[in-house]
Amino acid sequence: MADSRVDTLEDRSDAVTRERVAETPQVTGAEATSAPAEHGTAVFVADKVNVHYGSTLALKGVDLEIRRNHITALIGPSGCGKSTFLRCLNRMNDLIPGAEVSGSLTFHGEDMYAPHVDSVDLRRRVGMVFQKPNPFPKSIRENLAFGMKVNGLKANDERIEKVLRHAALWDEVKDKLDDDAYALSGGQQQRLCIARAIAVQPEVILMDEPCSALDPISTLAIEELMRQLREDYTIVIVTHNMQQAARVSDRTAFFTVEQPEGGGRHGILAENGDTEMMFRAPKDGRTQDYITGRFG
Ligand SMILES: Nc1ncnc2c1ncn2[C@@H]1O[C@H](COP(=O)(O)OP(=O)(O)OP(=O)(O)O)[C@@H](O)[C@H]1O
Ligand SMILES: [Mg+2]
Repeated sequence: MADSRVDTLEDRSDAVTRERVAETPQVTGAEATSAPAEHGTAVFVADKVNVHYGSTLALKGVDLEIRRNHITALIGPSGCGKSTFLRCLNRMNDLIPGAEVSGSLTFHGEDMYAPHVDSVDLRRRVGMVFQKPNPFPKSIRENLAFGMKVNGLKANDERIEKVLRHAALWDEVKDKLDDDAYALSGGQQQRLCIARAIAVQPEVILMDEPCSALDPISTLAIEELMRQLREDYTIVIVTHNMQQAARVSDRTAFFTVEQPEGGGRHGILAENGDTEMMFRAPKDGRTQDYITGRFG
């Protein structure tokens, strides 16, 4: 985040920006210069992406770049296509009958929707965490071991510990790895699901409202975890929580619903950019209205 701060504006967007600024850890010394050069390069590029469900256009003309080792927040009113767009990024829409993606979407410069692309391998590289924690009805260990084995990784104690440490869960579960995952709290289950996503060594983690079923303390724990994970992963998060988008993300994409005069309604990407700028000085009046709570 940039250092210049404006404290004069009084609307909610500035309140959340200030909150985020106050919470941003101060980076000092060696850490400040250690970001590898490739951080920030484009991982995904969407160019005029449309999604139809059957004959209904759900999302129209999305142009968006998702940058490496950044957290990108997708925000916007219900039904504007945030989840639809997120699912484009690991071809989860392929699994929905009637869903059709058109336009161009590249992952590391390669067409993700080219016929030769193995969507199962793509989904290993681009993992997903859902709104409701959904561990398998198995032990904590087995939740992690399953994906590791499927992907040819040894599910040894060392690797299990490493993944749980990475997901900030180790200290809470180290003595009960063989207990049922359902015995964990909701926040712990969600961190287990993040651990499960990490266990197969993805590059990108997609999160669709990962905190909406959690209490504020678990929410902050997940946000802190996301900040740590950003060092190694690219993260895209859908959230309805404006404070969360402002606190945790580097870039924000605001989607909204367009209702053309001829009828119909579909989602569009109205605006995207650096999170601080999006919250402090959005260019589009619709973004301003949304983040200040005037609609949606
Ligand atoms: N499986 C589906 N079949 C048909 N239409 C769908 C399907 N999934 C989503 N849609 C439609 O696509 C549009 C965008 O939905 P989507 O779920 O992507 O919105 P969203 O922004 O994630 O909303 P929310 O904030 O409520 O989760 C909506 O009009 C929705 O009804
Ligand atoms: Mg959604």
